Amino acid sequence: MKAPLRIGIAGLGTVGAGVVKLLAEHGRLLSLRGGRPLKVVAVSARRKARKRDIDISRVRWESDPMALATAPDIDVVVELIGGSGGVARRLVQTALRSGKHVVTANKALLAMHGTELATLAEKRGRILSFEAAVAGGIPIIKALREGLVGNRVRRLYGILNGTCNYILTTMRETGRDFGAVLAEAQAAGYAEADPSFDVDGIDAAHKLSVLTGAAFGAKVNFAGVHIEGIRHVSAMDIQFAEELGFRIKLLGLARETRYGIEQRVHPCMVPLAAPIAHIEGVFNAVVVEGDYVGTTMFQGRGAGQGPTASAVVADLVDVARGRQMPAFVVPAERLADKKVSPMDRHQGAYYIRLMVQDRPGVISAVSGALAKERISLESMLQRGRSQSGEVPVVLTTHETEEAAMRRALARIAKLGAVAEEPCVIRIESF
Ligand code: HSE
Repeated sequence: MKAPLRIGIAGLGTVGAGVVKLLAEHGRLLSLRGGRPLKVVAVSARRKARKRDIDISRVRWESDPMALATAPDIDVVVELIGGSGGVARRLVQTALRSGKHVVTANKALLAMHGTELATLAEKRGRILSFEAAVAGGIPIIKALREGLVGNRVRRLYGILNGTCNYILTTMRETGRDFGAVLAEAQAAGYAEADPSFDVDGIDAAHKLSVLTGAAFGAKVNFAGVHIEGIRHVSAMDIQFAEELGFRIKLLGLARETRYGIEQRVHPCMVPLAAPIAHIEGVFNAVVVEGDYVGTTMFQGRGAGQGPTASAVVADLVDVARGRQMPAFVVPAERLADKKVSPMDRHQGAYYIRLMVQDRPGVISAVSGALAKERISLESMLQRGRSQSGEVPVVLTTHETEEAAMRRALARIAKLGAVAEEPCVIRIESF
């Protein structure tokens, strides 16, 4: 058997501990699969004294993670520190420059500096892998690099944030509003104390930009992602969605249009007939539409110790085998600098929910504003009377251009009978 692959792990939180555990538990199997033993030789974390459910008594402890990047007895650095800059970025750069391979779960780092790091890795002839960075245990990067590599990707979309999917699922099941469900998720430890990365769509956008790079041969462009979170989705909209045959999901979607690459993260009305509408709770899913393969869907757990460790170890086995592929499928220096397809040019159908004064002529004024922009209505729904005199009116439209929809909404918002900002959710067709 060949010499062991010598691993240094930076970051021993839930995921790092999971990697140590998995490597220990499946050591023999992984030696066979990797062609040599996978051995953790050094680790580094902020707090040495923290209680961890792993045996690291025979592993060197480095108080400075940067020591892992240059240690002569390490072949591969596993970066599990997180964050788009700072130590994580320096560690990855230094490790690659020092001739180490790098495995990382850091989507924020890749979203901001993915192309630069892939270029560095390829110049140094080293592997940069990040299966764990996108959709946790779902092997979607491998799918794009390997199983689907023969295809041109037509479109890609997915549920990329388990926290949002859990919140939306629970809102639907319980009829409660966003704030109450978020507070409960925080108390149960599902959502971070500062939930904004999750609920404002940033985490999903990080992951989408990495997927887009790999799927479309484009430089990773996080700044090119249109991002909206789920804070404005109300229990009422979730209920209306069901009545109309949709389920509201926070999706990340990417495709090439004639204007460039369209990347967007926002709540979507997903037809109940689409399989992705039924991915519930903390689960993630990614759908890839390829020109030869057709539609493929991958689902599984997008976070947590086991699934994330599973993805990190998959990358480590590749390193052990010497399987060297460009990080973003095509060589980093050939990644294209594609234009951003502007949201104004987005073509799609829309769900609009208004709160209006229940009096004659309101619907006609609203539909007049839409007609002025040549937006055709698909359906309309008005419910009961309320004590405040405001009632919800729900409209769905046929496909139109987003710029026209924005102009119509600006007119609608100005109508005296419209009580609050309209809630607008894009309808997707899959
Ligand atoms: N916070 C992420 C989520 C998991 O809720 O899906 C880590 O990427």
